[in-house]
Amino acid sequence: MQVQKKLFTPVQIGPITLKHRIVMPPMSRLRAQWPSGIPSDLMREYYSQRASDGGLILTEATAISPSGRGYRGAPCLYRDEQLTGWKRITDAVHAKGGYMLAQLWHAGRTTHVAVTGEQPVTASVDPAYCADPNIFVVTPTAFRDRRRIERWRRPRSLLSSGSTVPPPSTRSVQASTASKSWPPMVI
Ligand SMILES: Cc1cc2nc3c(=O)[nH]c(=O)nc-3n(C[C@H](O)[C@H](O)[C@H](O)COP(=O)(O)O)c2cc1C
Repeated sequence: MQVQKKLFTPVQIGPITLKHRIVMPPMSRLRAQWPSGIPSDLMREYYSQRASDGGLILTEATAISPSGRGYRGAPCLYRDEQLTGWKRITDAVHAKGGYMLAQLWHAGRTTHVAVTGEQPVTASVDPAYCADPNIFVVTPTAFRDRRRIERWRRPRSLLSSGSTVPPPSTRSVQASTASKSWPPMVI
């Protein structure tokens, strides 16, 4: 069978029968409401536009906890209001006959206090990663102030009770304040 023809034949994925094989991959668009992480009207429009009868859409990366938030504007799915926001979207996709699966994530070492309100936590801490000046994390103000970003991207490990990479001894006043406040300050 020609590839093009096969593209438009059904396929079974677990309990889901798709009518065609064009699947939308997870693509972060950073359009969720901030700081609530509730999916926005724009997201509903975006996913609804891309829904098709018997087609499958994977959501953009969606945080499973406050500490797992990777970017400002990335959606979340750990509070009732966020679930309600996603349901508005899945309802619109289902109305067109489409299916949707959530991509769940915890952004681990790439999180930042300005987004999560806390020190990053990760499955394992690689000191070389933290020391690498070429690795950035995204904050609400993007990459504007590199030094403050550097100070706050050192994660604590899930493998030990404490931090295997000690936090820097000097912290900016702004960053210290940000860690105690919610919503996070722009730093
Ligand atoms: C704007 C954009 C956002 C993306 N966001 C995610 C994401 O949230 N989760 C993920 O697993 N992949 C993400 N990806 C990767 C895509 O799902 C896809 O795997 C990739 O774009 C396909 O490879 P290619 O871009 O080299 O063709 C993203 C890609 C783009 C272009």
